[in-house]
Amino acid sequence: MSANDTLIIFDTTLRDGEQSPGASMTQEEKLRIAKALERMQVDVIEAGFAIASQGDFESVKAVADTIKESRVCSLARAVDADIDRAGEALKNANAGRIHTFIATSPIHMEYKLRMTPEQVLEQAVKAVKRARSRCDDVEFSCEDAGRSELDFLCRVIEAAIDAGARTINIPDTVGYAMPHQYGETIRQLMERIPNADKAVFSVHCHNDLGLAVANSLAAVTNGARQVECTINGLGERAGNAALEEIVMAVKTRADFFHIDTNINTREIVPASRLVSSITGFPVQPNKAIVGANAFAHESGIHQDGVIKFRETYEIMKAEDVGWNANRMVLGKHSGRNAFRSRLEELGIDLKSEQALNDAFQRFKDLADKKHEIFDEDIQALVSDTQKAAENEQFALVSLAVCSQTGEIPNASIVLTIGGEEQRSSSEGAGPVDATFKAIERIVNSGTSLELYNVSAITSGTDSQGEVTVRLEKGGRIVNGHGSDIDIVAASAKAYLNALNLLSADSQKAHPQTAGV
Ligand code: KIV
Ligand code: ZN
Repeated sequence: MSANDTLIIFDTTLRDGEQSPGASMTQEEKLRIAKALERMQVDVIEAGFAIASQGDFESVKAVADTIKESRVCSLARAVDADIDRAGEALKNANAGRIHTFIATSPIHMEYKLRMTPEQVLEQAVKAVKRARSRCDDVEFSCEDAGRSELDFLCRVIEAAIDAGARTINIPDTVGYAMPHQYGETIRQLMERIPNADKAVFSVHCHNDLGLAVANSLAAVTNGARQVECTINGLGERAGNAALEEIVMAVKTRADFFHIDTNINTREIVPASRLVSSITGFPVQPNKAIVGANAFAHESGIHQDGVIKFRETYEIMKAEDVGWNANRMVLGKHSGRNAFRSRLEELGIDLKSEQALNDAFQRFKDLADKKHEIFDEDIQALVSDTQKAAENEQFALVSLAVCSQTGEIPNASIVLTIGGEEQRSSSEGAGPVDATFKAIERIVNSGTSLELYNVSAITSGTDSQGEVTVRLEKGGRIVNGHGSDIDIVAASAKAYLNALNLLSADSQKAHPQTAGV
C-alpha cells in the first residue's frame, strides 16, 4: 500500500439510509443533506433510486442539478428501464455515476431472481453496457456478494469490467461476513481477476452483526479503495457502515492504514445532527465520534488525565470532528438579512419570499422565548415551515394541557382537518398521552404507535424539544417529527406530521425486489 493512496468515500445516506423504515425524506430535505455532504467533501453522493417513484426521480435530478463538487450517483437494477431513468435524472450532473446491480448469491439467484447464473452474468454485462451508453462513470455491484461463490464472482466481475464498469462493489448485503474472511475475499478477487487493475474495488457492508465498519476496514487493508457508508450508520435494518467511523479510523490510525480521505472532518458532527433531525433517528449518546458522550469523561481519573495531557485518554480531538461547530448564530435582534444569509450558509434554499417570511416569523417567535438561536434550531424551524407549506391534511391550531401532581392530566386540542376546525379533549396517563388520545378522538386513525422519542435540540432547559412519533398502519411505517420549546406541543406536531405522511401517496418501488 503506498503512502499517498486515497480512499473514496461514497455516501449512501440518501439511498440506502432512506431505506430505513420511516426514514423517508422530502426533496428539500435531501438537498439540504446533499449540500452538507458536499461541504464535507464526500467523493460520491448516492442520491437515490431514480425509478422508485416520480418523487425519487425528481430528488435525484435536483441533487444532480445542484451539487457541483461531489459526484452524484443513482442506483438502478440491471434492467433497461431503471438504467435509462437513472441516466435521465443525472443528465445535468457535473459528474454523474450510474450504479447498477444484480444479485449473485445462489439463494438470491434461485429464489428472488429465478435466474440461472449464466442468465445473471449475461444480464450484468448487458446492464453495464447500457449504463455506459448513458454515463461515462458506471459502478457495478454483485448484490449479496458476501454469500456468493468466489469463482462465480470472479467471472461476473471480469465480464462487468470488460463491459465498461470502472468501480466494482462487493456488498455484504445481509451483514453476514466476518472481517478476516471478507478482507480475504477482497484480496482474492483482486488477485484472481485478470482485469482487476482497471477498476476500483468498493465495499458496502450492512451492520446486522455489528460488523459493518470492521468488515469495511478489513477490506481496505486488503485493497478496497472505495467504502460505501452513511451518516450515523443509517440504513436498512441494522444500518450500513457509519461514515464518521470509517473516516476517523483511517485518519486516526494513519500509521496502520497509510491512506487518506478527502473528507473535511469538521463537518462530521453538523452533518450527523442534520441527518438525525431530518430523519428523527436519534444518535445514541455512546455512539462513536458523534454521540453526545463520545468526548465526555465521566470518571475522575480520566478527567484528571485529560486535563494534564489530553492524549492520555483521547485519541481524537473533539474540534476535529466539528464538536465546536455549534455556534450561536442569531438572536432576538437579528434582522431578516442576517437570517437569510445564515440560511444560505447552511445550504437552505427557501424557494419563495413567502416561505422566507414564514420561516423568519417562526424565528422571531422562537427568539422571543429563547435567547440564543443555534444552527440546529434553524434547521428544525425550517423543517416545520416546510411541513406547514405542504398543505397538510392535519394541522395543529392550539393545545391546552393541564398537568398537576395528584390530578389526572387533561388535554384540549383544536385541529384543522382539510382546513376544517375540529376540537376535542381527553384525559391520559400523562400530558403527552392525553394529547395523543385527544387527537385520536377526532381522527380515529387505526394506527399503532411504534415509537415515541423526545430529545433536546441544543443544551439548556430552554432548548427546543424534538419529537419523533413512529406510526404503523397496514404494514406502512412513517416517522413524524415536530419541534417546539413546549415538548407537549412538539409531540402533538410530530403525531400530526406522522398522520400527514400516512395520508400522502407513497407508491415507491424498493430497489431490492427483482426487476427482471
Ligand atoms: O446492500 C446492498 O446490496 C445494496 C446494493 C443495492 C448495493 O444496497
Ligand atoms: Zn445496502
